Formats: sequence, structure tokens, C-alpha cells
Amino acid sequence: MLQSPHQRHAQAAASDPDKFWLQQAQRLRWFRKPDRGHEPAESGGTQWFADGELNVAWLALDAQVEAGRADQTALIYDSPVTQSLRRYSYAELTEEVARFAGVLADLGVVRGDRVVIYMPMIPESVIAMLACARLGAIHSVVFGGFAARELAIRIDDARPRVVLSASCGLEGERIIPYKPLLDAALDQAQHQPESTVIFQRPQCRAAMQQGRDHDWGECLARAQPVAAVPVPGNHPLYVLYTSGTTGKPKGVVRDHGGYAVAMSYSMEVVYGMQPGQVFWAASDVGWVVGHSYIVYGPLIHGCTTILYEGKPVRTPDAGAFWRVIAEHRVNALFTAPTAFRAVRKEDPEGRLMAGHDLSCLERLFLAGERLDPPTHQWLKDRTDLPVLDHWWQTETGWAIACNPVGLEAFPEKPGSAGRPTPGFLIEILDDAGQPCATGEQGMVCVRLPLPPGCLLGLWQDAERYRHGYLETFPGYYLSGDGGYIDEDGDVFIMGRTDDVINVAGHRLSTGEMEEVVASHPAVAECAVFAIADSLKGQVPLGLVVLKDGSGQPAAQLAEELVALVREKVGAIACLRRIYVVQRLPKTRSGKILRRTLRQLADGEDPAVPSTIDDPAILDEIRQVLGR
Ligand code: COA
Ligand code: AMP
Repeated sequence: MLQSPHQRHAQAAASDPDKFWLQQAQRLRWFRKPDRGHEPAESGGTQWFADGELNVAWLALDAQVEAGRADQTALIYDSPVTQSLRRYSYAELTEEVARFAGVLADLGVVRGDRVVIYMPMIPESVIAMLACARLGAIHSVVFGGFAARELAIRIDDARPRVVLSASCGLEGERIIPYKPLLDAALDQAQHQPESTVIFQRPQCRAAMQQGRDHDWGECLARAQPVAAVPVPGNHPLYVLYTSGTTGKPKGVVRDHGGYAVAMSYSMEVVYGMQPGQVFWAASDVGWVVGHSYIVYGPLIHGCTTILYEGKPVRTPDAGAFWRVIAEHRVNALFTAPTAFRAVRKEDPEGRLMAGHDLSCLERLFLAGERLDPPTHQWLKDRTDLPVLDHWWQTETGWAIACNPVGLEAFPEKPGSAGRPTPGFLIEILDDAGQPCATGEQGMVCVRLPLPPGCLLGLWQDAERYRHGYLETFPGYYLSGDGGYIDEDGDVFIMGRTDDVINVAGHRLSTGEMEEVVASHPAVAECAVFAIADSLKGQVPLGLVVLKDGSGQPAAQLAEELVALVREKVGAIACLRRIYVVQRLPKTRSGKILRRTLRQLADGEDPAVPSTIDDPAILDEIRQVLGR
């Protein structure tokens, strides 16, 4: 039977992954072409193309200049919060990156060293990432919304030689000084970097510590450009920390070779992009979407990428996205559904689209959380364009399921994240590891080996990777998501099966928030879980049981706990509601019944679990929550 293009790719990748991906590797210019496909990696997972030699930053910049793109715009920095706009051609960006690589080299950074980047959405962040890659150093970007403690945890795990930061970030009209947060993190961290380099923004100047802190501009003025360092295909490019179920984040390790191949393949197959077109991922460089589709993917594919320092609303209004699309002739936009829920809330009729020429826009891509059917429909009604949900994770680095428009476009099915991307063999397993029937919900797993671009494992913790992802069902990668596949082969992702939650497209750990809440001297025990939120998808809610005789008024304590989580985890945690209860519902073996709590908080009427030690507790909690 004649196969469709998607079937052809999927089957070729499944039947002989090495052959398929070595063929795809031919898309790139290697300093030495690889002959080896996949094999076990030191960090616990799979590595690809270990005998090849390349450099991702060189592919993203120098190779594009050599291919005739010197004058093409590589990066557009659009910042409504500073009212500025700047364009970098491929030649200019290459020059800036080569010079900043010189700064890092002057500070002693060499291949394999880690560099932590704690910066806002400014071009210097992208330049810093690419400069690390150019030297074969390993960057670890920490999202600017995280608090000092979170930064300290990541610094202690990554043990960077240098930390790069800026004096401040801008959240709407608010200035968020970053340097005091960095100083506090370094006070808390055991590991101390040899130096920091601080980019002074005009909105706020950072106080510098002599000997340790260096001024970005002064360093740059002294530096000489350096050439890209060839590295093996499996050489680590970055460590990106993501929330797990405990307080300790997981350092996802990604390579140069497999990642470059996956980025190139996905820009074409998943996003249907042609070199020279404009791609906009409205995310943040601190998240995986920013790594893959603000920085590496579009540049490796010869596209123009947009770095947007603003919000979908309030900078200045809900027409901001339409303005950027029209002004920069964006061909494809990628963002999180929550961003469009925010736009829709403020401009339900899409009036602010008027006056913007959106004829350039071909497709909209959504990910980070499930694209809820009402938002899908709203976008469809407003734009009449393909509105494509796709599912992925920090761990995979690119889409596990998508509508592979570069190969063939399937009919859109609201609620579904699309079909398995070629290279990902998705199976739904039940608790016993048996395949679920079509339409039956279970744990979404991917048969090994994972394709190029996925994690090599966890930084310095191969055991945690094996235990967390590979041991539950031998031969499979456990995604941590629940879902099902329907009769057409479309994948539906219904939510996490663990304590990871998704707040406004940001991945957070309830376990981590519980650790912070439980650290308060008045708290005996607590449960933090996610409840549905019409704007952010989910928001956390906390229930606490106080120690006997703590004597503090409940409302005052709740306020203190909210402030504590904000201080320790960061504002993005969005834990705003905490209630004091007498007891928490538990199984007879002492496990907190989180699912039941979540259902109660969402106003559902959950069945009383047979394992509950005292069903009366549920009525009490219902009362406290006003349900
Ligand atoms: N640095 C410092 N603080 C930050 C920050 C950053 N980079 N990002 C967010 N914060 C702060 C916000 O200022 C806010 O603080 P507040 O409680 O004092 O107001 C808090 O963290 C929560 O931020 P957020 O969840 O972003 O809420 P918001 O009300 O400011 O905006 C949305 C709501 C929906 C507009 C916004 O979350 C959004 O654009 N989401 C899309 C997310 C996304 O792109 N995800 C990436 C996956 S594709
Ligand atoms: P992150 O690692 O931050 O990208 O978050 C990954 C998690 O976000 C996944 O495990 C899912 O729970 C969720 N997610 C991402 N994309 C989707 C999607 N398209 N549909 C449903 N959930 C998604």
C-alpha cells in the first residue's frame, strides 16, 4: 500500500532509527560526519552521533553567513517595555557572539566549563548562550522569574566557572533588579563562580563587587573574537533545569549533534518553515521553548527569529501579538495557550487585530499545556488559520506529538496534540505496563531509543534519570503525562500523573512548594496541589495543618506562607491561596489523597476513596474551601 509522507518518515525512523537519523544528519555541515547512530550516554540516556564533530553555534551563525545570509536579519529584538527595537543581521550576530566568546575565554572559560545565565529577554542573553556554545562551554539558563534560592540550588548543581546576569528585568512597568537576587543566591550557594559579568541596563544600575563582578560592556571592549571550537556530536551544549516531583530540580542535559539534527528536522517537518522566513516563539529564553525555538532552531534553519520582551497583554494592550506579527512579517507564531487566553479575556472580539496586516501569518502553534478547545476555536474564528497544538517537554527538547505540516497536514482535532512525530513511538500503558486499548487513558510512554535532540540524561545524576524515567516500564521512557490515543492515531494529553503542575505554561513542582511551606515553624504538615484556573490553566492551592499551640491567627499565617513561597520559589509560583485545616485526608497508609483534594477544590463531587482513613475530613475541607 502507498504510504503517506508522515507514515514513510515514521516507519523509516521506527524500523531503523540509526539509518534514518544518520540520513537526516546529512542536513547539517559537520566538521567530521558521523557514522555512529545511537548508543548509551554517560548521563543515563541515549546519545547520538558521538563520532561526528560539529559546533551548534557555528551552524547557527558562521555557516549561515557562508551560505549567503550575512545580510539577512537573524534576530529582531522587539521590546515594548523599553520601547526599543533592534535588528541583527547574521553577520552582526556572528561578530557579537564571537566577541563575547572572547570575553568568556578571557575569564578562563574552556570547553566543558559551565556558565550560568540569569538574564532577562535581551539580545545579550541569546549572544551569551551562543558564545558558550561556540567555546564548547555548557550554558545553564535560569528563568528570571525564579527567586534567589532557586538560583542558588542551580548554581550548586551546575558549578559554573562564570555567572552572567543583567542589572534588571522589566515586567510591564515594573523594574525587577536581578543583581540583588544574584548576590543573595551567591550568599546562599556553596559553590562560588570565579567571576560574574553583569550587563548594566539603563533602567537600573547594579552595585558591583570588586574582583568578582565584571562590567559586560568593559569586558567586551577589551575582547577579541574567537573561532568556534569543534566538539563531538555528544558533547553537552546545555543543562536546563526543570521541575521534578521533589524540591531538587532536574538538570536536563542536551548535546550539540543530536540537538542540531532535531532542530533542523523539526523546523521543516513540525513547523513547515523555509529558510529566510520569520519564526516567532513568544516564550522566554529561560524555558526549553526559548532554547529550541527562539535561539537554536530558527538560526540553524536560516530563519529570522524574534526576541520579544513583553507580555501578550498590558504591553501596552491585548493587540501586542498582532502588532509584532504584522510589523515583522511573522510567518509562524508559537506560544502557550495561556497567552491567548489572556488576549481573549481582554479583547474577546479581536478588535485589536484591526489595522494590522496579518497576511504574512501562515500558522499558529501552541504548546506548554493542553490547548483547550474554546481557545482553539477562538483562534480559529479570529484568524482562519491552522491552529496546531503539539506536545513536548523540557526533556525531549522538541515535539513528541504534532501535526507534521512540513510532511502533510492532518485535520485539526481540538483537544488533541496531533500524531506521534516521526522518531517518537508513543504507547499508552496501564499501571501493569500493559498496552491500553484505543481510547483508553493510561500513562503516555515513548518506546526507546528516544530520537536525537532528547536529553542525554540528567546532569551528574544518571541514576535519577534511570529511576525516574526508565525503570517503571523497561524499554520505555515514562513521560509523566497521562492520556490516550484515539482510533485515528491522534494523541490526547490529559495532564500530569505526578506532582508537577503547569501554571501559565510554566512547569512547577508542588513538592517544592510543600517543602517551603513545611519549613515554617508553625506548620505541622501541608499539601499543595493544582486547581483549574480559567486564565493560567492551573494554579496551586495549599492546605496546612498547624502544630498544636502555634497560636497564630490563620489568616495572618496564610499571608506569611504566601510571602514565603514567593520569596523562596519566585513570583511565578502564583501560590496565592492557602487555608488552614484541622486534618488532611489520607489513606490508611498515610498518603495524602491529592486527587480527591483537587477534585474537591475544583467543585467536583469526588467518590469517597475506599482507602481513606476518615471520610468526615472531606466535609470539613469542603467547608473551608467554600464548596
Ligand atoms: N522575571 C521576574 N518576574 C517574573 C518573570 C520574569 N521573567 N516572569 C514572570 N514574573 C512574575 C510576574 O511579574 C508576576 O508577578 P506578580 O505576582 O508580582 O504580578 C508573577 O511572576 C506571575 O507571572 P505570570 O504567571 O507570567 O502572570 P502575569 O499575570 O504577569 O501574566 C500571562 C499572565 C498569561 C500573560 C503570562 O503568564 C504569559 O504570557 N504566559 C505565557 C507563558 C509562556 O510563554 N510560557 C512558555 C511556554 S511556551
Ligand atoms: P515543560 O517541560 O516545561 O515544557 O513542560 C512539559 C509538560 O507540559 C508536559 O509534560 C505536559 O504536562 C505539559 N504540556 C506541554 N505541551 C502540552 C500539550 N500540547 N498538551 C498538553 N500538555 C502539554
